[in-house]
Amino acid sequence: MENQEPSKRVTVCQGSCCRRQGAAAVLAAFKKLLLQDNITIASGCLGQCGNGPMILVEPEMIWYSRVHPDEVPAVVKRHLRGGQPIAAMLYAKFHPNYYLK
Ligand code: FES
Repeated sequence: MENQEPSKRVTVCQGSCCRRQGAAAVLAAFKKLLLQDNITIASGCLGQCGNGPMILVEPEMIWYSRVHPDEVPAVVKRHLRGGQPIAAMLYAKFHPNYYLK
């Protein structure tokens, strides 16, 4: 059996604040769509309460805020598989001057 490292890790905050804003449905949407080359993990509070559901994509350290479950397919297709973060969804606090190349 092949033991391959995942290419990206998606952390979906499941702290109480983000869960009140729908983070459980966002986590479920990622788990449904992601293939074995990416992994999704649930975390406790990521320290950005009030902007959730918060998502962190590693290794590039890209943050998304206020993610809706309906937006998850676009993140998977364009960012995780296509390598292009979705500028309009980025968390402005950490990506204030992010422009797509
Ligand atoms: S609960 Fe998600 S950032 Fe705090």
